[in-house]
Amino acid sequence: MALLLAFIICLQFTFVVGLTASSTVSPTSSSGMISSSGGRAPTSTKECVIVGGGPVGLAAALTLSNHPHYYNVTLIEKATDASRYDPTRAYLYNVNPRGLVWFDRFPEARRELEARSTPSGGPGGTRICYIPADPKTPIVPPKEIGLPDKRDLSYWIPRNAMVGLLEDCCRKQETQRVETNDEQVGSITLKLGTEFESISAYANDRLAVKCKDGSCYDADLVIGADGMDSQVRSCLADQRKNGDSWLQSKASSFRVRKYRSPSTGLRLKSLQFEPNFQLVNSTGEKFATQAESMYVFRGVNSGTTNYMSLGFLPSKDPSLPRPGNINTRPDHDIWKLDTGAHVKEYFAKNFPRIPWDDVVPGEEWDRFAKAKGTTFPFCQYSPGSAVPSPSMQTGVALVGDACHAFPPDIGQGINAGLQDVVALDRALSGKDSRSDESLDSGEDLTVGERLLNYQRNRGPEHKALIRLARCGAPYQYRQPWMRDRIGRFLHTSNVIFRLLLNKLSGGLVPPAAIMIMAKRHELTYRQVMRRAALTSRIIKLALLSLLWWKLFRPFFLA
Ligand SMILES: Cc1cc2nc3c(=O)[nH]c(=O)nc-3n(C[C@H](O)[C@H](O)[C@H](O)COP(=O)(O)OP(=O)(O)OC[C@H]3O[C@@H](n4cnc5c(N)ncnc54)[C@H](O)[C@@H]3O)c2cc1C
Ligand SMILES: *[C@@H]1O[C@H](CO)[C@@H](O)[C@H](O)[C@H]1NC(C)=O
Ligand SMILES: *[C@@H]1O[C@H](CO)[C@@H](O)[C@H](O)[C@H]1NC(C)=O
Repeated sequence: MALLLAFIICLQFTFVVGLTASSTVSPTSSSGMISSSGGRAPTSTKECVIVGGGPVGLAAALTLSNHPHYYNVTLIEKATDASRYDPTRAYLYNVNPRGLVWFDRFPEARRELEARSTPSGGPGGTRICYIPADPKTPIVPPKEIGLPDKRDLSYWIPRNAMVGLLEDCCRKQETQRVETNDEQVGSITLKLGTEFESISAYANDRLAVKCKDGSCYDADLVIGADGMDSQVRSCLADQRKNGDSWLQSKASSFRVRKYRSPSTGLRLKSLQFEPNFQLVNSTGEKFATQAESMYVFRGVNSGTTNYMSLGFLPSKDPSLPRPGNINTRPDHDIWKLDTGAHVKEYFAKNFPRIPWDDVVPGEEWDRFAKAKGTTFPFCQYSPGSAVPSPSMQTGVALVGDACHAFPPDIGQGINAGLQDVVALDRALSGKDSRSDESLDSGEDLTVGERLLNYQRNRGPEHKALIRLARCGAPYQYRQPWMRDRIGRFLHTSNVIFRLLLNKLSGGLVPPAAIMIMAKRHELTYRQVMRRAALTSRIIKLALLSLLWWKLFRPFFLA
């Protein structure tokens, strides 16, 4: 039962808590950043343009410039300073063992990740503190939570820190390449503040990438890593607007399939608190909050348009402001308030125990009132993830949010993106998607065939990922609408029922998908969903047998 409770607490926090994992990851290749690997001479005669310098695009730049690809990489990113802290994009990634597979190939990036993030799920655990709404109720100090298996680590890192760390790795590799005149690694050029406009094909199969500032880049390979509203994807999906060449030959497969989940449409906004802000306990004594612990403040209100709680995720740097997140339906009262003073008054009524004047700087209220916040997306994916040229010598591929996006409930966004980069690495190396076996003894497959192998591997995986995102933990924000409350009850009952079946059968019947995902990081999303479907089939069969027995028993007894 303790396990069950721990799990339910975790379910409330998948977006918040790093679900644990087992890190039995096999190294996929001998190469590593900066350390070049020996063997045959590199063929740095190929050029790759990566569109989008989010974490997944930057990871792809490191991968494709290294052994055995040696692409000269140009990365185009429209933001000028994505590594700066931005309160409107102040969300945290949880890099779990699925994403760490990528880091295992780049030991230096891994060291930087460890230095700049907060570990969770490992020996130190993750601590959480629930703060009741009533100022007279004593505050229980942060308690360690986590799934039972504590050997497994994941890392909390703010988006800007993650982007900053990967940019640093790219720059460092490039500086070192120039200094040592290293030919065992391709170049990386970061073009920040440059916005992608279109791709076109010329001279049979060369690719030209055009940017809004008029600049143009030639490429043998274009990677779309430009996020959920990918322009690269639109170029492949839209014949009318973008001309009609081999690029659009699979247009229909690049149109996104969208599904609404119970967390789709929720709006997230964060209020910046003072670092290590102080609270007052029931007896009047003050104490400071801890940067590395999570906090959840319960509010006084509980109605369908005024229920609100405030959540704080772990923070590495105790000197940084601490973002407190609210997740609400778009009809919530908070969205009707337009001045800092009104917002402050609303918060003060809902969270009477917080000493507001001391914890939130005065000017923050107006910023908060004006900010738009983020809306959780549909669960969406594009079945297509690559298109080769007719000569099979060049092509375009999509990675990360450009081919799959979903609300953050299952905490897999960044991890699924890094897995795409690992899969692309394997496919372009001519390797099988799971084992290190070579599919072509190194030389025979064309780039086009390799890209199609990537797509064959990713298509079903992304479809399963989206199903998982829809059923995983979509009610963890305690959405207050009536249908949310009913939905949450049914969802929790379903998870508990499956867990009971799992325990009663001695582990034979698989538990709910979200639990398989959380415990078995070595499984693909496809394998996770297949196991969960097995349980659904067993349940259906049991119900049918029961019905059959009820209907036909009289005949047997007669
Ligand atoms: C509120 C919220 C919370 C989240 N929480 C989590 C979480 O806890 N854990 C998790 O794993 N994931 C989380 N995610 C998902 C996560 O943000 C994404 O999965 C991840 O950022 C995907 O990385 P990416 O590099 O593929 O895309 P992005 O991070 O979206 O990066 C795309 C980049 O491309 C650039 N770009 C876009 N268009 C162009 C263009 N035309 N030209 C040039 N550049 C362009 C953008 O500026 C951006 O830098 C969350 C998402 C949201 C919205
Ligand atoms: C790749 O970059 C290196 C170093 O700048 C350069 O010598 C080489 O010609 C480039 N290759 C291509 C195809 O541009
Ligand atoms: C708050 O007070 C209670 C009892 O008065 C005490 O047990 C608890 O440890 C205090 N909490 C903190 C965070 O200091």
